[in-house]
Amino acid sequence: MEGKMERVQVGVIGVGRMGARHARNLAGSVSGARLVALADPDRVARERLREELGVQYSFDDWRELVHLNEVDAVVIATPVEIREEIVRECVAAGKHIFSEKPAAKDLATTRRIRELLAGGKVKYQLGFMRRFDPGYAYAYEQIRSGRIGVPVLIRLTSRDASGPPLSYVRTSGGLFVDSSVHDFDLARWLMDDEVATVYAAGGLFVYHQYAEAGDIDTGVVTLQFQRGGLGVHDNARHSGFGYDIRTEVLGTNGCIQIGYFQRHPVVVLQNGHGSHDCVADFLERFRDAYLAEMQHFVDCLRTGREPSVGVEDGEKSLEIALAARESLRTGKPVAVGAVADDALGLPAAGEGVA
Ligand SMILES: NC(=O)c1ccc[n+]([C@@H]2O[C@H](COP(=O)([O-])OP(=O)(O)OC[C@H]3O[C@@H](n4cnc5c(N)ncnc54)[C@H](O)[C@@H]3O)[C@@H](O)[C@H]2O)c1
Repeated sequence: MEGKMERVQVGVIGVGRMGARHARNLAGSVSGARLVALADPDRVARERLREELGVQYSFDDWRELVHLNEVDAVVIATPVEIREEIVRECVAAGKHIFSEKPAAKDLATTRRIRELLAGGKVKYQLGFMRRFDPGYAYAYEQIRSGRIGVPVLIRLTSRDASGPPLSYVRTSGGLFVDSSVHDFDLARWLMDDEVATVYAAGGLFVYHQYAEAGDIDTGVVTLQFQRGGLGVHDNARHSGFGYDIRTEVLGTNGCIQIGYFQRHPVVVLQNGHGSHDCVADFLERFRDAYLAEMQHFVDCLRTGREPSVGVEDGEKSLEIALAARESLRTGKPVAVGAVADDALGLPAAGEGVA
């Protein structure tokens, strides 16, 4: 499996929302790749996708996919709980890995995954797709080229149209671990610096049932970077209008704004009012990014390069998210890296929640 390969034969484990998207991209749009296998205990969903895409192999058990001779690389799009086991098996079998985020639910598991990969036997890419969005990628180049001087302040907004069910929230790790990790990754990447301290606040305003899981539906985190830069992140499970991901970086000599929430470049003007439609969800907003990240993964395998986003990035963002969760719980600023790993330890119901 080492070195370069002509064409990469890929198997997808988990064919839910993300797995199906990756499978469709691999089957139809990623050059140099061939989708050869699917694995998911949900036979109905799996066979439907297999038929749609004309996939050769299909398994209930992901282990059979990993050990299939025809498979060079594996996409992991299952619930997070079984990631470590799949990564372990892939490394043993010499199969390259594209893993959906988060790398793992807790720091201890993330670090074990990093150690498993340390031998460099297989390549690993983590699904922080926002880095591959054309807008974010362009902004990154502009910032790195010095266009706005030295970046000093980053503002990151994330809003879902509506929140997930309580059953999802219970095992999600909470708003900051489940969702804000994407923003914390962007913050590190765009500022080219590590976050030193966070201070978080949050509340429950729409999904009061999340109190049972000790989670919030709206949160704010201020960030202090190691070189002194500043950041403000706000996140909400509810927007009331659509999916809204926007970021702004202020430099010593200008500012860059990234993102949009208008679906079509059309405004309807009528009776003294103007209106436009909104982006619905992440699958729509980041369609190009999901394709570009998978093309990057396949290109890396074909050329022998290392993927640009790895498990270390997952670990750093998780450290920030855990510090934010601890700050929410204690009401005090928290140094990143100072939090003892407590896996799914959400605040007790009501604790740290307005
Ligand atoms: N990068 C992003 O923008 C983004 C967006 C959404 C979700 N995600 C991540 O993707 C992952 C999957 O999320 P989703 O929304 O697609 O979930 P989903 O529930 O839609 O799909 C998960 C799939 O995994 C399957 N599965 C469960 N156990 C399995 C097993 N043992 N073997 C094989 N398949 C198994 C389920 O049957 C289901 O089809 C999560 O880790 C989530 O955090 C990332």
